[in-house]
Amino acid sequence: MNCRAVILAAGHGTRMKSAIPKVLHPIAGRTMLSWVIKACRQAADEIVTIVVGSEMATHQHDQQGGFKFVEQSERLGTGHALHQAEAALKSRCDQVLVVNADMPLLRGETLVRLVEEHARSGAVLTLLAVNSHDPRGFGRLVRDKEGNISHIVEEAHASPAELQIQELNAGAYCFEASWLWRALPRLELSPKGEYYLTDLVKLAAGEGLRVGHVSAQDEAEKIGVNTRIHLAEAEAAMRERINQEWMGRGVTLQDPATTYIGPQVQIGRDSLILPNTHLEGETVIGENCRIGPNSIIRDSRIGDGCEVEASVVEGAQLAEGVDVGPFSHLREGAILETGVHVGNFGEIKNSHLGPGVKVGHFSYLGDATIGADVNIGAGTVTCNFDGEKKNPTTIDEDAFIGSDTMLVAPVRIGSRARTGAGSVVTKDVPADSVAVGVPARTIRRIGKPDE
Ligand code: UD1
Ligand code: CA
Repeated sequence: MNCRAVILAAGHGTRMKSAIPKVLHPIAGRTMLSWVIKACRQAADEIVTIVVGSEMATHQHDQQGGFKFVEQSERLGTGHALHQAEAALKSRCDQVLVVNADMPLLRGETLVRLVEEHARSGAVLTLLAVNSHDPRGFGRLVRDKEGNISHIVEEAHASPAELQIQELNAGAYCFEASWLWRALPRLELSPKGEYYLTDLVKLAAGEGLRVGHVSAQDEAEKIGVNTRIHLAEAEAAMRERINQEWMGRGVTLQDPATTYIGPQVQIGRDSLILPNTHLEGETVIGENCRIGPNSIIRDSRIGDGCEVEASVVEGAQLAEGVDVGPFSHLREGAILETGVHVGNFGEIKNSHLGPGVKVGHFSYLGDATIGADVNIGAGTVTCNFDGEKKNPTTIDEDAFIGSDTMLVAPVRIGSRARTGAGSVVTKDVPADSVAVGVPARTIRRIGKPDE
C-alpha cells in the first residue's frame, strides 16, 4: 500500500508581517518548508504534493525536486487546501499523510510512527497529538465519555473548559484515501468562514469510524510557527537538536548556545567547536580540529587537525594541520596545503598555497600559485587587478618575500629568490636572485645552499 504526503503551505502567514511567504523563512539554514518536505519523505512516497498560494511562484525556493505544487487560489482554510490536492492524488495512493508546513520541528521518525500506527489500527484517520502545558493557538482534542477522540475544537471557538485541555492537535494526519475524498466535500464552513480540516475528525466519529492517534515524544516537535517569535523559538530548538546530534557523535561544543551548525555540515570526531562559531552550507570539518571562537566557515573543507581562530572561511579547502587566524579571511578558491599558516589579517582568494607556506601578517594573495615553504612577509600584496582583468602571480618554492612587497601581476618569483622590504616587483625575478627597490631590480644572485 502506498502513502503520499501533502503539505499545506498556502496560508497567508499574516502574523509574520513579511513580504516573503511564511514557509520560505529559513530555520537553521534551510527553509521551513524544506524541513517538512524532508520529514514527509521519510514517512511517505518520495513525491510530495505541496499546496501553495500564488505568491510562491514569484519567490526563489529550494528546488531539490521530488515535489509538485498545487495552487490554492482562495484561502478558504486547511480543509479547502487539502481538497486542492485531490486531483493530483486520487487513485494514486491508499493513504494520504497531511502535514502543516509551519511545523518544521516534526521529526521524520514521528511521521513514520503515525503512518505505521494508522496501517496497524484500521482507523480512517490517525492524527498526531502533542501534550503541552502551553497550548497556545492549537486545536484541542476533545474526547467522549468512552475516551475516544470525538472532535477537535479550534482555540478561537473553545469554551473555557475546552481551553484547559492539554492534549493538542499537532497538525499532522494520516487518512484512508477512499474515505478522505468522500468526506472532504462534506466539510461545512466554520463561523470564521473557513473549511477546517480538523472537522474531519467529527465527521469520522459521527459515522462511528475509528479516529486513531499517536503522540509526539519530543516537546520541541510542537513548535508551530505563526509569528517571528515562534520562528526564533523554532530556530533555537532546531539548533539545539543539531548540536546534540554532533555531541552524540563525539564532537565537543564548548558553548552549544552560541554554536550554529547547518544541516548539511559534517564534523569529525574529537573536533572542538568554540563559542560564537557558525558552520554553514556544505562545510566539512575533519577530526581533531579546533574551530573558533568567533569563526564563520561556509562551504569549505577543513582537514584533520586544523585550527581556525576568529576568522571567516568561505569556499576554501584546507588540508591537514593548517592554522588560520586570528582575523583572517579565506575566500572562494583558496586552497591551503598541509601545514600552511595564515596569521593575522591575511586575505586569500583563488590561490593555491603549497605545503608549509607561511603568511604571517597583513597580506592579500589573490589569483596566486605559491610553492612549498614560501615565506610571505608582512604586508605583501599581489596587485592582481589592473582595472580590467585579474592577473596571476606565481611564487616558486622556498622563495622569501620581504615585508611590504607589491607583486604587480602578472609576475613570477623564481625558486629561492628573495625580494627586499618595500620592493615593487613589476618584472619576473629569476630563481636564486635578490630583487629590491621601486620598481624592483634584480641586483645579484644568491648562492645555492651547496655553492
Ligand atoms: C491548525 C489546526 C489546529 C492545529 C494547528 C497545528 C486547522 C483548522 N487548525 O491551526 O487544530 O492545532 O494547525 O499546527 O487546521 N493553510 C493553507 N490554506 C489555507 C489555510 C492554511 O494551505 O487556506 C496552511 C498554512 O500555510 C499552514 C497550515 O495550513 O501551513 C495550517 O494553517 P494555520 O492557519 O497556521 O492553522 P493554525 O491556526 O495554526
Ligand atoms: Ca499554524
